[in-house]
Amino acid sequence: MLWIIILSVIALIGFILLTIALIEPHRPEFTRVRLTENGGEPSLRILFFSDIHIEMCYVGSDYICGLIKQEKPDIVLFGGDVSSYPKHVENGIRYLAKISECCKVLNIPFIGVTGNHDIDLTEEQEKQCGFGNIENRYVTYGDYVLSGLDDSGRLERVWYTPVEVPADKKHILVVHDPDAISHIEDTKRIDYMLSGHIHGGQIRTPFRLEFYIRKDDLPRKGIFKGKHLIGNTVVYISRGLGCAKLPVRLGSRPEVSILEF
Ligand SMILES: [Fe+2]
Repeated sequence: MLWIIILSVIALIGFILLTIALIEPHRPEFTRVRLTENGGEPSLRILFFSDIHIEMCYVGSDYICGLIKQEKPDIVLFGGDVSSYPKHVENGIRYLAKISECCKVLNIPFIGVTGNHDIDLTEEQEKQCGFGNIENRYVTYGDYVLSGLDDSGRLERVWYTPVEVPADKKHILVVHDPDAISHIEDTKRIDYMLSGHIHGGQIRTPFRLEFYIRKDDLPRKGIFKGKHLIGNTVVYISRGLGCAKLPVRLGSRPEVSILEF
């Protein structure tokens, strides 16, 4: 009798968790985060989203366009990973192209970097996405300079070096995989780093067990989402929008952020 009760309770908990995990990818969270210490009006506001993984993305481009219209940020930034599989990439391109249109209407720059799943994107496809790729170059905005780093993918991992940027501006490095910070020789000139890739764990488990089946370094140290100080660099890691491998999220809702500087 006791066993029946225990098994029933386990089954009920499993059913509740599965239900939540199936609903969560459909419930994006809009976060507003201040990355600088100073108060007052921000001098730069970036709308940041990452990791679409279009084949398992349940947050429409309309949602992001709505936030762009509502917030009117200075810059809209994409953090990489259009699609997990090449056969779905055209849908991802359409998704990004719609966001690009929204930005054009409001005259807001749309820039970004590619992720580890985007290594097969052709130059033409990248152009169709509609964002200005800032990998290995930089753009300036007021007192800030944003530069981007390419992602080599995971099969033959190469960690690249950021480009030189003007010394009189605060440097925001955009790189898909936050582990890059551990592989950059000199981080003194990187004031901020914006990343995605980890999906906030996607399916959270007790004792962070989910990170032991991944190869990433920072998550094993407890750094897998949100704002962190690593050395002198303020790092922000987005939970991203879509899902990888399974169409579920648990304890890690999809995220679109306004980052204030
Ligand atoms: Fe991803």
